[in-house]
Amino acid sequence: MDAHLAVRARGITKCFGEVVALDGIDLDVARGRIHGLVGPNGAGKTTLLALLLGLAVADSGRLEILGMPTGRTFEDPGGVAGFVDAPGLYPSLTARQNLAALAALRGDDTRSAGIDDALEQVGLTDVADDRTRGFSLGMRQRLGLAAALLARPRLLVLDEPANGLDPAGKKHVHGVLTRLAGEGTTVVLSSHRMDDLEALCSEVTILATGRVVFSGPLGELAAGDRELAYRLITSDPARAHRLAAAAPGVRLAADTAGRHGGEALVVHAPVPALDALVAGLVHAGIALRELAPVVSPLEAAFLALTEPRAAESRDTRQREDDATDPRRQHAQAQPQEAGQ
Ligand SMILES: Nc1ncnc2c1ncn2[C@@H]1O[C@H](COP(=O)(O)OP(=O)(O)OP(=O)(O)O)[C@@H](O)[C@H]1O
Ligand SMILES: [Mg+2]
Repeated sequence: MDAHLAVRARGITKCFGEVVALDGIDLDVARGRIHGLVGPNGAGKTTLLALLLGLAVADSGRLEILGMPTGRTFEDPGGVAGFVDAPGLYPSLTARQNLAALAALRGDDTRSAGIDDALEQVGLTDVADDRTRGFSLGMRQRLGLAAALLARPRLLVLDEPANGLDPAGKKHVHGVLTRLAGEGTTVVLSSHRMDDLEALCSEVTILATGRVVFSGPLGELAAGDRELAYRLITSDPARAHRLAAAAPGVRLAADTAGRHGGEALVVHAPVPALDALVAGLVHAGIALRELAPVVSPLEAAFLALTEPRAAESRDTRQREDDATDPRRQHAQAQPQEAGQ
């Protein structure tokens, strides 16, 4: 048992019939951290979060929550709150009534000031007396978080809490979670978006088909001398293309030249080779107007760790096509809040 850890999992396995949802999971989450779980659909995120919440029990392995062993024969460690899939709400009750009912079910004598405060923290004060039947997905998510806050948890477990949130809602939720972690609450949450996790978490665990393929600080994930795809726009595309083709350690993306007027150049290169190419361009009197990774280093690491090879090359090809096609740039720049 380790008192510094809010979660300590060793060899956790969970099956649903023939489906192995979790396959020997090891996980350490230190107290007071915001830990992100990420992985493709069906990777096992919700299953793992349900175990942390005590909604299910592992078939085998050892899981300690807040320093206490869990399982069929152990007591509820207490101090854990959150939701998986989506928060359960009473549609015919208002937001305020939902929170009061949940608090009463838990046996809390939460005063209305506590409920008002929780509603304000998640930005739902204006709709506090509206029935939740008409709530949007983002509003439900926020109310679910407010319900969890009322329990004053030491471990907060949230399944895709940013799902359906508009940018203002996301900012609210990020603020709440960051403050809670500052006060010592441990947060374990799942997301499909590396940019959300980057904004919130100091560490992540990547799951793929029920296994941990990475667990550690985000910086460690983004680092490494992985070869990335970069998109370059220069003052002289034709000469830039010739120099890139001859640069050691640099690979031109398939079909990068000539298409769409040859304006953008996409190359695959590790950072030192890219540096040398940029120096070479400048030395040759070619101005570099734009240089950016086609996908962020974190997303590239995520894709490399989780995608099957065939899908990866297909996806990379598509991204390269998009990156060299100016008509796709605007569409890509749009925020994608829904359907994460
Ligand atoms: N109650 C269940 N009955 C049968 N199979 C289940 C059940 N819950 C999960 N599974 C299976 O376990 C695997 C892991 O599912 P889980 O919901 O944990 O994935 P996830 O990472 O949360 O996916 P998503 O990103 O789609 O939410 C999947 O193959 C899923 O079909
Ligand atoms: Mg899920």
